[in-house]
Amino acid sequence: MNSTNILIPNHVAIILDGNGRWAKERGLKRTEGHREGYKTLKKISKYILHKGTKYLSVFAFSTENFNRPKEEVDYLMNLFIKGFKNDTWYFNKENIRVVFSGRKEKLSKEVLEAMDIMEKDTLNNTGGILNICLNYGGRAEIVDAVNKIIKDKKESITEEEFKKYLYQDLPDIDLMIRTSGEIRISNFMLWQLSYTELYFPNCYFPDFLEEEYDKALTEYTKRERRFGGLKNE
Ligand code: IPE
Ligand code: IPE
Ligand code: MG
Repeated sequence: MNSTNILIPNHVAIILDGNGRWAKERGLKRTEGHREGYKTLKKISKYILHKGTKYLSVFAFSTENFNRPKEEVDYLMNLFIKGFKNDTWYFNKENIRVVFSGRKEKLSKEVLEAMDIMEKDTLNNTGGILNICLNYGGRAEIVDAVNKIIKDKKESITEEEFKKYLYQDLPDIDLMIRTSGEIRISNFMLWQLSYTELYFPNCYFPDFLEEEYDKALTEYTKRERRFGGLKNE
């Protein structure tokens, strides 16, 4: 297929899965897989947003991931602290604005500070939005939205109004990719995924580079989206 015929989705989401297995296959510690995964995240977010996609949401750490061994959780938190503090230059160079979705509770002061630095330093970038879901749960997001609505003393609400109470006001997701071969949603953006096209490549996230993403786009281009209506003849 000619690259000019490729459809570019407006909002892409990725469940970054398989870091641990990537490391295990190489006889490395799981944490090495997370380090490699972070490097891939930098490369692939630049590639996706520079291709014309406006929003990229990535699942970096779920509310349930706190149930992992302390050593692994601590490693990930330190990776976030160092990564967010050291890499603002990179996202500024690539003109990418970074925002976060998730619950603040349970995150340390250092992590929150690093997130704040990243968000503030990249605020004026116009080349696409990278939404990093950290301490994020799809159900938690909906419950948090409902609690804000109760606080606002609303008696009824439309879908459009409800959307504004979510962590970030983003359009629906067009294409959701989960790496590593697992075929499930694992509490990712439940509200935003209603009519999303789903794609499940077998590769582990550290290997999800340019060529793998191009395959996802080729597949997305072939899909026929109907949104409950009838096929366009
Ligand atoms: C995804 O990789 C990263 C996080 C969940 C933080 P995993 O750590 O889930 O890797 P696997 O699925 O065990 O291989
Ligand atoms: C989902 O992956 C969460 C992230 C990628 C951050 P998990 O590895 O935690 O999901 P399960 O446990 O396989 O469903
Ligand atoms: Mg996993």
